Amino acid sequence: MAQSNYVPGLEGVVAAQTRMSKVDGLAGELVIGGFKLETIADKASYEEMVYQLWYGRLPKQAELDAFTAELAGLRALPPAALDLLRTIAHKDLDLMDALRVAAGVLGTEDGAQQSDEWLAKRLLAATPTIVAAAWRLRNGQDPLAPDAKLGHAANYLYMLEGEPPSAARARGLETYLNTVIDHGLNASTFTARVIASTASDFVSAVVGAIGALKGPLHGGAPGPALDMVFEIGEAGRAEEVLRKKLEAGERLMGFGHRVYKVRDPRADVLAKAAREFYEADGDMALYNLVLDVEQVAIRLLEEYKPGRNLQTNVEFYTALLLHGLGFEVPCFTPTFAVGRVGGWLAHCFEQRESRIIRPQSEYTGEEDKPWVEISAR
Ligand code: COA
Repeated sequence: MAQSNYVPGLEGVVAAQTRMSKVDGLAGELVIGGFKLETIADKASYEEMVYQLWYGRLPKQAELDAFTAELAGLRALPPAALDLLRTIAHKDLDLMDALRVAAGVLGTEDGAQQSDEWLAKRLLAATPTIVAAAWRLRNGQDPLAPDAKLGHAANYLYMLEGEPPSAARARGLETYLNTVIDHGLNASTFTARVIASTASDFVSAVVGAIGALKGPLHGGAPGPALDMVFEIGEAGRAEEVLRKKLEAGERLMGFGHRVYKVRDPRADVLAKAAREFYEADGDMALYNLVLDVEQVAIRLLEEYKPGRNLQTNVEFYTALLLHGLGFEVPCFTPTFAVGRVGGWLAHCFEQRESRIIRPQSEYTGEEDKPWVEISAR
């Protein structure tokens, strides 16, 4: 029998070349669009960050103004998307399901343009509108129309809450969205690239990526990570609670990563942004508890999974920052999608320059079964 080249989970397999981001899992470094994460994340607006990825350079002021205005004009949802959201709304609606359903309608409206660039702008602009509308409908409130005077991040907060946010909160969210915009060939980005590689449309690519991001092993971890911190409640209980989980074979959410074998560099950027809000609020107790839980978790992971180098990942501090910004747990993963959609689309553009992605599989079944009539099975 031929020797197998199969690599479970495609670990270590290089399946794309990209200018979007470089993830150095051993050094704990992340470069996005040519910038070290810590150089750009808390400075660029989200629109600038997207422009950098899509067009390969930072925009000049007039270019940024035009890009921002065009996106702002594409935020409102088509009536069919709103109708769908109203139809499926209930108090436990998973907002990722809502996003998957409503994003699929984009581009089907009368008069919609179908160029890659137009669809990309439409998807980017409308994603926060869908999440905010679904959130409000879930809570029995009417969706709000977007406010074109506000930037992408500030408008998202406005559409969720009904009040324009402070500049500090908008900045905090922007830092988060920039931090998660792209991250090498993660599962959802790979999904988007596979779909774009078939010459299918960008809406299909993004809908597929939303489905991949939803899973708790990818983008679904911050909610459970925060639940875990609340369950622990006080630093003195961390060891007992976490030990029990590990003894039961559970995974500690917010820890471990396929690529990073050291602390995820995004954790530091998010922790720094989070600290401001907790300090301003006077609620440092939760912030400090998170730090304590992290220390105990890393120590116990080394004890239970020696040599695996299971470290803090982006989701752990996502939970802290988004909670500090006033987001509720059901909005965590959809807000990740609001940031990541810019990266998915950047990869879709890039994938257009390449070939269809079509790897091989290795057959492990039988090869010569006899046919058995149904009456004899
Ligand atoms: N808690 C406890 N054990 C963990 C763990 C965690 N968070 N992450 C990995 N492990 C263990 C696995 O059980 C496995 O142990 P085993 O070999 O004794 O069975 C070993 O470490 C390797 O895990 P594996 O599933 O092969 O790693 P992976 O590269 O396929 O998975 C993740 C990476 C991110 C999916 C994984 O670390 C995980 O599930 N983390 C928790 C979810 C999370 O935070 N996701 C967000 C990612 S940004």
